Amino acid sequence: MVTNPTVQSAVPTCAVIAGTGSCVPEKVLTNEDFTKIIETSDEWISTRTGIKERHVVSEGETTATLAAEAARRALTDAKMNPEELNIIIVATITPEMVFPSTACFVQAAIGATNAWAFDLCAACSGFVYGLAIAQQYIGSGRYRSALVIGAETLTRITDYTDRASCILFGDGAGAAILKADDAGASMGVMYSTAFSDGTGWTSLNCKAYGSRNPVSKPLADPKMVYMNINGKEVYHVAVRRIVELVNECLEKCDLRVEDIALFIPHQMNARIIESVGKRLHFTDDQIFINIHKYGNTSAASIPIALDEARRTGRVKKGDIVLLVAFGGGLTWGANVIQL
Ligand SMILES: CC(C)(COP(=O)(O)OP(=O)(O)OC[C@H]1O[C@@H](n2cnc3c(N)ncnc32)[C@H](O)[C@@H]1OP(=O)(O)O)[C@@H](O)C(=O)NCCC(=O)NCCS
Repeated sequence: MVTNPTVQSAVPTCAVIAGTGSCVPEKVLTNEDFTKIIETSDEWISTRTGIKERHVVSEGETTATLAAEAARRALTDAKMNPEELNIIIVATITPEMVFPSTACFVQAAIGATNAWAFDLCAACSGFVYGLAIAQQYIGSGRYRSALVIGAETLTRITDYTDRASCILFGDGAGAAILKADDAGASMGVMYSTAFSDGTGWTSLNCKAYGSRNPVSKPLADPKMVYMNINGKEVYHVAVRRIVELVNECLEKCDLRVEDIALFIPHQMNARIIESVGKRLHFTDDQIFINIHKYGNTSAASIPIALDEARRTGRVKKGDIVLLVAFGGGLTWGANVIQL
């Protein structure tokens, strides 16, 4: 098993989840809607991906507006004022603009005047990476609170003529607030691990308008402004990496599969989740799936799921949850959290 000693740690102060929140746009695009714009069917999409519908932004909605609303809901849940936040991390691949960071827009929108704010680009693994960073800052005693958000408007970079990819993605944001806890009431984020393999960048990317393909030069292919994915390639690597991550987390935290109250994987494809669940011997009750409602929302998928699991009573205080992500980069990572 591969492990990465730079990210994993046992920390003295616990970083506990104080609150969560999420926000998805009102507008919904169903599988039936897709049959009017591409050659597809509800049956194909449902059986291959598990997706039935996804939420999409309308005029005036952006990554920052969704992120800020998810943050406000997390603050309300945590019964905290925005001024109490020390750090804001926004994980996104669809930022508000090239700069400043989406996190700075969120800071201004919610009035978190005492926080420093930055974006994190790790595609679908962004939220898990963000929690790993926040855990370190809080665990070391340097800061007392962190707001970690996963927020995306993937439909802004979706090619609606590519039937193999356009049916997969949706928009949304999810947020979690980590707070220092010296009382030991909960272990909070017990363990985080993260990996990257930059040689796999060709499988998932959006090539336009960075320094390699600048806005000042005509694009070699106009489709470079859209997400480009090699679904088949990603599928197989993702299954392998997610299984490795779960095994590493169980071993490092000295846990058995049955100790995990809820396994919350990145919602990329219900078939991938089910296949991983079977290999690892999770029961259906232990696996969280909400992809049928939201599609793949990249960095937002895990925090939306975590918030939904808490709000609907699927998990309770003291439960151990396992968050596992895989995405473009390639990137992958996991967090073990006692709620
Ligand atoms: C994309 C994905 C759903 C495709 O499923 P798949 O079983 O691998 O399907 P294939 O790509 O082999 O396509 C099978 C056939 O369906 C067709 N097809 C593709 N999209 C279709 C659609 N929306 N409707 C109907 N048919 C479709 C293909 O053209 C192909 O037809 P062919 O055999 O005549 O060439 C799946 O590979 C996946 O979920 N991959 C990971 C997704 C991902 O990368 N997410 C982002 C990273 S987090």
